[in-house]
Order: sequence, then C-alpha cells, then structure tokens
Amino acid sequence: MKILITGAGGFVGYRLAQALLKKGSLADGEGKQAPISQIVLFDVAFPENVDARLKCVKGDLTDKACVEATLGDDTDAVFHLASVVSGGAEADFDLGMRVNLDGTRGLLDACRKLPKPPRFVFTSSVAVFGGELPEVLDDGTTPNPQGSYGAQKVCCEYLVTDYSRKGYIDGRSLRLPTISVRPGKPNLAVSSFASGIIREPLNGIVSVCPVAPTAKIWLLSPGKIVDALIHAYETPSSAWGVNRVVNLPGITAVVGEMVDTLRKIAGDKIADLVEWKPDPRIEALVMSWPAKFRNDRARKLGFVADTDVESIIRGYIDDQGIKI
Ligand SMILES: NC(=O)c1ccc[n+]([C@@H]2O[C@H](COP(=O)([O-])OP(=O)(O)OC[C@H]3O[C@@H](n4cnc5c(N)ncnc54)[C@H](O)[C@@H]3O)[C@@H](O)[C@H]2O)c1
Repeated sequence: MKILITGAGGFVGYRLAQALLKKGSLADGEGKQAPISQIVLFDVAFPENVDARLKCVKGDLTDKACVEATLGDDTDAVFHLASVVSGGAEADFDLGMRVNLDGTRGLLDACRKLPKPPRFVFTSSVAVFGGELPEVLDDGTTPNPQGSYGAQKVCCEYLVTDYSRKGYIDGRSLRLPTISVRPGKPNLAVSSFASGIIREPLNGIVSVCPVAPTAKIWLLSPGKIVDALIHAYETPSSAWGVNRVVNLPGITAVVGEMVDTLRKIAGDKIADLVEWKPDPRIEALVMSWPAKFRNDRARKLGFVADTDVESIIRGYIDDQGIKI
C-alpha cells in the first residue's frame, strides 16, 4: 500500500507519518490489514532529519503536474492535510483560496485519474461553524463559517463528499477541534495560543494570551488527532454511508482553567508566565467558534476524545521529557 500525506512537513502530518511507520499496515477496502510499502510526504518544506524510511517530495499543492507525478498511478491512500492555516487564510485571502480551495480541488482531480479510487482523508475544522450557534452543537448543526479558512474548509468537505458519491475517491472529512499542546514554535493559526499558554511557560518563556480567561475552546490532543485520522481511514465506507463528514469529539476547555491546571501540575512560577492581553480581532474569531458538541455520530463511528485538560498537559510533559 502506497500512502501520500500532503502537508506532511507540518505538525500533524509528520506525527501521522511516524504513527503509520510504527503501525506498518492499514485496513484495505475489504477491512484486511495491508502492509504499507511506501509513505510519501508532500510539502513545501520539511523538518530536519526526516526518518529515512519516508520519501519526501518538495512541491506546491497548487502545482498540478507535481501533484500528479507524486501520486503516480499506484497511490492507494491519501491523507490531505496541506493547508494555509486560519490566521494565514484570513490575512491573505488569495493565498487561502489558491491553496485551501483550488489546491484541494486539483488534488481531488488528480486522484480521480488514478486507476483505482483512493481512500481519502481530509482535515477540516470546527472553524466551519460560526455566527449564531446553539450552546451545544450536534451532528445536525449547519456550518456557517465566519472566516475565509472555515469557508474554504466547508467547500472542500462538499467536494470530498461529491467526489465520493461519484466514485472518484472514497473520502472522509474530519472536523478537527483545536489541537493542544502543539510542540515547537507558535504558528499563524488563530488558536495558536491554546498551545502557547502551556508550552511557553513550561519552557520558561512568557506567553501572551490574546483571549480572556473565560474563553472556551473545543480541544483534542495531538495523539488523539493522529488516532482519529487512522481510524477514519480504516472505518469501512459502509459505516460512513452518504455522509462523509464528522465532527470529532473533544473536550470543552476554559482557557483560564487550562492555566489553573498548569499551575496545579507545574507550580505558580510557571503558570504566572501567562500574561492576559485580549486582542479583539483574535477574540472575535475564537468566540465565533463552537466550544461544545454532542458527538453521537463520531462516537458511533468509534472516535474517542481525551478525558480532561490535565491528561492532555501531562501527556505533553511526558512526550517532551520535560522535568517539573
Ligand atoms: N492544529 C490545529 O489546531 C488544527 C485544527 C483544525 C484543523 N486543522 C487542520 O489540520 C491540518 C494539519 O494542521 P497542522 O496543525 O499540522 O498545520 P501545519 O501548519 O503544521 O501543517 C500544514 C502544512 O501544510 C503545508 N502547506 C501549506 N501550503 C502548502 C502548499 N501550497 N503546498 C504544499 N504544502 C503546503 C505547510 O508547509 C505545513 O507544513 C490542516 O489542514 C489544518 O487546517 C488543524
């Protein structure tokens, strides 16, 4: 089985590649585990020291010839993660449209040319929701994005569903919660603070939080996201049916309580490194995102959330080998 991961130089994509290497196989169309023969990573940039068992292709998603050549005619599985993230797509409308919408359509068309329709997992986002929302969203809540990133993601969900209906691919779109705790440096995602308020203090660095302590976010850990991507792939088409989109389960985290939990785990000196400076532009976008879901469909399909914020922070500390 040959797997292509777009955006694999990024945070989730590279973790997914490592998890697939460790797993060694993926369920095929009949549900049997098929050995993974090749994992191709596609991105405009890669981290240093990429595992030698992974094949890196440096290219732009909007370069159709490059995308087609990378797929070849033997790709069985596509995990499509390449994206201009929320803050970037909002700041540069044309770039967001080109990469997130046109790039995804180009990739879908390239997949359509493969001799066998590949299974295709797309990373959408809870940013597809916005506007006047109920306190608890459910599987029937209508997307109404209040940002270009969410608008581009929901358009791509429709494409993934329609290309699946036509039999060009066997697709699934996952609406990812905000991911925390993300290691490394802050990125352009509007939700970047959700990792920064934990990661930076644990590194002894001040973190400026652009939203009020009362702000709520829908959260999932990186480990559970990677598990969800693999689970989405392995869940048979019959279980998805005609609806190819799912809201992933998560937990509702109150930002101030996240810092309180950090205080409980790592002490006052660390937690006091969080400075509260609300930025109305970021706050408006974050507040327009949903913070609580009823995830009946996801749970029926077998997706799992973290238990609480404390386990997410402790998991990050263990993962990074941080000494408290
Ligand atoms: N991190 C989160 O909290 C979160 C939440 C919801 C959804 N998502 C979605 O999950 C996916 C992965 O997120 P991530 O946190 O790993 O983001 P990331 O920014 O770390 O990775 C995205 C990757 O896409 C690549 N990319 C951007 N433009 C490209 C182009 N034109 N051609 C090829 N590659 C390009 C980037 O170089 C980057 O490595 C994205 O689709 C993102 O929208 C993430």
